[in-house]
Amino acid sequence: MPSKKKSSTESKSSNIKSFAVLCSGGDSPGMNCVIRSVVRTGIHHGFKVFGVQRGYAGLLSGNIHKMDASSVGNILQKGGTILQTSRCKEFLQKETRREAFHILQRKKIDALIVIGGNGSLKGAFHLHRETLLPVIGIPGSIDNDISGTSYSIGFDTAVQTAIDAVDKIRDTATSHERTFIVEVMGRKSPAIALYVGVCTGAENVVFSEKTLNIKEIYNDIKRGIDRGKSSSIIIVAEGEKPGLSYEVQKRLKQNYQIDAHVCILGHIQRGGKPTSIDRFMGSKMGYLAVKALTEKKFPVVVAHNQGTTDIISMDQSINSKEEGDLTTLDLLKTLSI
Ligand code: F6P
Repeated sequence: MPSKKKSSTESKSSNIKSFAVLCSGGDSPGMNCVIRSVVRTGIHHGFKVFGVQRGYAGLLSGNIHKMDASSVGNILQKGGTILQTSRCKEFLQKETRREAFHILQRKKIDALIVIGGNGSLKGAFHLHRETLLPVIGIPGSIDNDISGTSYSIGFDTAVQTAIDAVDKIRDTATSHERTFIVEVMGRKSPAIALYVGVCTGAENVVFSEKTLNIKEIYNDIKRGIDRGKSSSIIIVAEGEKPGLSYEVQKRLKQNYQIDAHVCILGHIQRGGKPTSIDRFMGSKMGYLAVKALTEKKFPVVVAHNQGTTDIISMDQSINSKEEGDLTTLDLLKTLSI
């Protein structure tokens, strides 16, 4: 009987003895929980585990070290990432990815686990396609905009941080009978703004300059004042670049003589102790990522959908389209009358 020839992916994957883990893109609270889980699950299954410091940039400069169970001790409760992270434009180039592959080969690292957002996971996918290196992706971003998963690590903590801030702003806004415009993070995603808006009883949420309807915002503020409300909060999603709040402030003043105060929350939302959700999800996603390696399932992304956390193919994840959730906006508007 002719012997069945192994595909190149099978032959490369047949003997994974070691892997490296890195964080890429913006950090998010809970990344440390993922790292701890990946390292300890890896050790449990007998892998040699390496940590890459400073994301793809660190990989390219060979900033790679061996990790053991104690190197991830006492980090569950810490914000940021002990591996640090970076945004590495060079990794968009094929030659750079090949160089990264050779560095991993020289260090005898057989697979790579990447924790990060859409761009970072795409980088991992291309790396796999070009070199057949086994890769696994774990969604990590406060923006919760990673395709193929309804949850990404850090979102819950970022939302909670913003809610705490808006609650404090509400105190002073009420004391002074003021309108506040609070800008939250989310480069391409309104997710933080919508959640924070609902949870703080905001009067309206603004997503972009294009959809900014100043008359509607004024009407929402005015209706509140007319029924005796002593403060108004408008949440703005920062969009491509921070500062849209100042435009809303300017138009409220010019068109309706409303003096609104602006507060941009910024990077405070990226730090802090992860919430129980981010600790649990981070631990589970890290565990499932290593389990996928033991089962030789790659390239995959660990995703959370309809209450279940499981792996999905990286191709499917990267190419799935996000559907905007307009029902949350309707919920907010219904409750903020
Ligand atoms: O990580 C996502 C994010 O926090 C976005 O919400 C924000 O727009 C962006 O990163 C800020 O990026 P930087 O790390 O360059 O400040």
